[in-house]
Amino acid sequence: MGKYIIAGNWKMNKLPSETYDFVKEVAEATKGAECEVVCCTPYVCLAPAVEAAKGTHVKIGAENLHFEDSGAFTGEVSADMLADLGVDYVIIGHSERRAYNNETDETVNKKIVKALSKGLIPIVCVGESLEEREAGITMDLISIQIKKAFAGVPAEDAVKVVVAYEPIWAIGTGRTATDDQAEEVCCGIRHMLSDLYDEAAAKAVTIQYGGSMNAKNCAGLLAKENIDGGLIGGASLKAPDFATIVAAAK
Ligand code: PGA
Repeated sequence: MGKYIIAGNWKMNKLPSETYDFVKEVAEATKGAECEVVCCTPYVCLAPAVEAAKGTHVKIGAENLHFEDSGAFTGEVSADMLADLGVDYVIIGHSERRAYNNETDETVNKKIVKALSKGLIPIVCVGESLEEREAGITMDLISIQIKKAFAGVPAEDAVKVVVAYEPIWAIGTGRTATDDQAEEVCCGIRHMLSDLYDEAAAKAVTIQYGGSMNAKNCAGLLAKENIDGGLIGGASLKAPDFATIVAAAK
């Protein structure tokens, strides 16, 4: 299965002035990690984060990007700008951006294509709301999100994409999906990728679970066959908790 990746999603937390020391702390706490360790930070924290990560195993990611190369897009940040800074990863289509910033399956797709063309690794978020889960349409919805996300992405690029399954009802709520609920959907995503590409490509893709993953519940989730890592919000803001999750990913 895909290589293990534990990525922190700081969201709108931490100051630029705190970033350098915190990334150093994460690097120290996760020394000897057997998985890829990523800190995704707000745009203004990226420069000190990249600086602190230099010479360590920690990789840095952004939380969004714009799908155009450049131009009159006030307030936006391009893939070239991120790559120029030394950023390796970028979260795309987080449910908070879908909810508050008009992110759609179409913009998610454009952003994935752009990120890949600039050598950035997209961490693409998919997931259902509680209403959708209760209506029994989780798999249908995720199948649409996956198909649209990967539209026009050739197999050689698709294997670089990280998919994060994040049930919206589990994000920041303390209500984690059970190990089996998370595995069921991650396994489903692997089948969808197998249908879109082939089994080898589907196996190569890293599929993360995200949504209230923490130091206590990570081991069970990460032990599941189709869960190759985690996208961690709240628990990524404390280096020891984050390090416990990293240690469970092998
Ligand atoms: P959480 O956030 O771990 O705080 O639930 C995860 C995410 O939204 O990526």
